[in-house]
Amino acid sequence: MTYRAIAIDGPSGAGKSTLARRLAQELGFLYVDTGAIYRAVGLAALRRGLSPGDEAAVLAMLPSLRVATAYAEDRLQHMYLDGEDVTEAIRLHQVSDAASQVSAIPGVRDHLLALQRRFAQENDVIMDGRDIGTVVLPQADVKIFLTARPETRARRRFDELTARGQPADYQQVLRDVEERDYRDSHRASAPLRQAEDAVLVDTTQLSLEESLARLYEVVKERLKL
Ligand code: DC
Repeated sequence: MTYRAIAIDGPSGAGKSTLARRLAQELGFLYVDTGAIYRAVGLAALRRGLSPGDEAAVLAMLPSLRVATAYAEDRLQHMYLDGEDVTEAIRLHQVSDAASQVSAIPGVRDHLLALQRRFAQENDVIMDGRDIGTVVLPQADVKIFLTARPETRARRRFDELTARGQPADYQQVLRDVEERDYRDSHRASAPLRQAEDAVLVDTTQLSLEESLARLYEVVKERLKL
C-alpha cells in the first residue's frame, strides 16, 4: 500500500505547524512536526551542558540519546527524550536557538532522517520542516513552501510567547527570527530552500482561515480530491 505525503517547508513563524495540524485533521492525515525532533536534540544538548554548536560534543551525545515521538488519542504529536515527555519543554525560547544550531550539523541531520521517513512509510502524512520537499520526502505528492515577511513572522512569534506568559521583546524576537532564517538557509547541509516543484504560499497578507483555504485548494488540486 502506498501512502500520500504532503511536505510543507518554510521559515519559522510562517504558520506551518498551525496550518499543517488543521489540514491534517481535515484530511485525516498524520501531522509530523519535524522541528520538534530537532528541538528535542537541542534540548538534550542544553541539559547536558553542551554548547549546541559544538559539533564533536553533539555528535558524541547522539548514540546515547533516545528521541521518540508518540501520538496521543487526539493524534497530537508528543516528543519524548530519554523516556520523558518534553512536548512543552522544547517550546522554550532558548531551545529554538539550540535546535537551529544542532540542525546545522550534518551528522545530526543524517541521524534523524530514517526516523522522519518512517512516518511516511506507514501513514498518510503532512510533514513540516525546512527540507521535507527537498531531502526527507523528495517524492511527496504535494509540496508547499510557506512563507511571510520577517516582521510578520516575528509579530506572530511575539504574540505566541506573550500568550504563553513568556516575557518577550519584539525587536529581540525579530533579530532572533532573522538570525535563524540566515542560519537555516545558509548552512551547508540541507539548507532551507523552496523545492523546484513546490507551490509558494505567502501568508503575510492572509489570516489563518484564508491561509488554510489556500492550502486546502493546493492540496485538493494536487491530490485530486
Ligand atoms: O520549525 P521549528 O522552529 O520548530 O524548528 C526548529 C529548528 O529546527 C529550526 O531552526 C530549523 C531546524 N529544522 C531543520 O533544520 N529541519 C527541519 N526539517 C525542521 C527543523
